[in-house]
Amino acid sequence: MTNRADMTLTSSGYYVSQEAPIETANPIATPKATPPDILRCAYMELVVTDLAASRQFYVDILGLYVTEEDDQAIYLRSTEEFIHHNLVLRKGPVAAVRAFSYRVRDAEDLDRAVEFYTELGCDVRREANGFVKGIGDSVRVVDPLGFPYEFFHQVDHVERMSWRYDLHIPGELVRLDHFNQVTPDVPRAVKFMQDLGFRVTEDIQDESGTVYAAWMRRKPTVHDTAMTGGDGPRMHHVCFATHEKHNILAICDKLGALRISDAIERGPGRHGVSNAFYLYLRDPDGHRVEVYTQDYYTGDPDNPVVTWDVHDNQRRDWWGNPVVPSWYTEASLVLDLDGNPQPVTARTDDSEMAVTIGADGFSYTRKDEGEESMPEWKQGEYKLGNQL
Ligand SMILES: [Fe+2]
Repeated sequence: MTNRADMTLTSSGYYVSQEAPIETANPIATPKATPPDILRCAYMELVVTDLAASRQFYVDILGLYVTEEDDQAIYLRSTEEFIHHNLVLRKGPVAAVRAFSYRVRDAEDLDRAVEFYTELGCDVRREANGFVKGIGDSVRVVDPLGFPYEFFHQVDHVERMSWRYDLHIPGELVRLDHFNQVTPDVPRAVKFMQDLGFRVTEDIQDESGTVYAAWMRRKPTVHDTAMTGGDGPRMHHVCFATHEKHNILAICDKLGALRISDAIERGPGRHGVSNAFYLYLRDPDGHRVEVYTQDYYTGDPDNPVVTWDVHDNQRRDWWGNPVVPSWYTEASLVLDLDGNPQPVTARTDDSEMAVTIGADGFSYTRKDEGEESMPEWKQGEYKLGNQL
């Protein structure tokens, strides 16, 4: 339970505190084993049902670079990447995520990963030659929350394409920025990720302490992954960064010109959380891809934790634009280590959509100003639900 008296209200409307103000009544036991030293989110292995259609989306339209491909899989990377890939598209019968993959600091961290997850009773497998091309010794696990992870250190190096301006496009994707995962019990997930060495940077709560989402990092940005409250385990999105806002606008213009504006689900806009400029797309299988730029540095040990009120109309879009319902409800399945879809458990805590959209939900732009104080033409429009 969060006491807002323990947090500082900023002039921007969010709260800050020093420690992540999230507690769980239902924790996963903290392993005695030392967790692996995770460097960063490195790549996602995605199962797609039509490899040619996915290639057109990720290569021809979004401009990711092909490191290697065959008739079963395509290995893609972003402009600044020097490791073999940031995204693997693998042909398969059910669109889903096979692995959220993290790079660890050294080879011994793979031993640590094995010990850490074995102690938790998880399915743990190690492949000395890697589970995919370009990656060496690696460990795959299904974690206690039901998500499939990979940890690796050894990887083939490839050329950074940063200097190849002759190849760059207006919407150039320069880095893999983060994952976003859907899980029913956000505080339980946060505690487990903290045990794994992640630090919370931002979260969304209500006054009673219900946590709707939390952002966590290893690398010194707002996040390597976020836990979003909902039916899970599922994958909400994978996110690539551009250098500038105009790169994101160029992607929108290109999708319009190609008459595939329906690939745009939400945005472009400015997030409240993370302060980043954003755009959400859906790939041919419905996997959600975010394009994102200009969040902030979080690497100091006393980096303040930011808490947003779930009723703050600017938390998910700083300009107050509504979140579309599909963004709250739809997500990709995740697979176990044998390739079977993981069962999905329903969220029992309040849903962010339900408490903020429609007749039962409310939100504010100026905290102390109720709807009754507004002119008639604005009443109703002030609520997100009336804009849908
Ligand atoms: Fe995101």
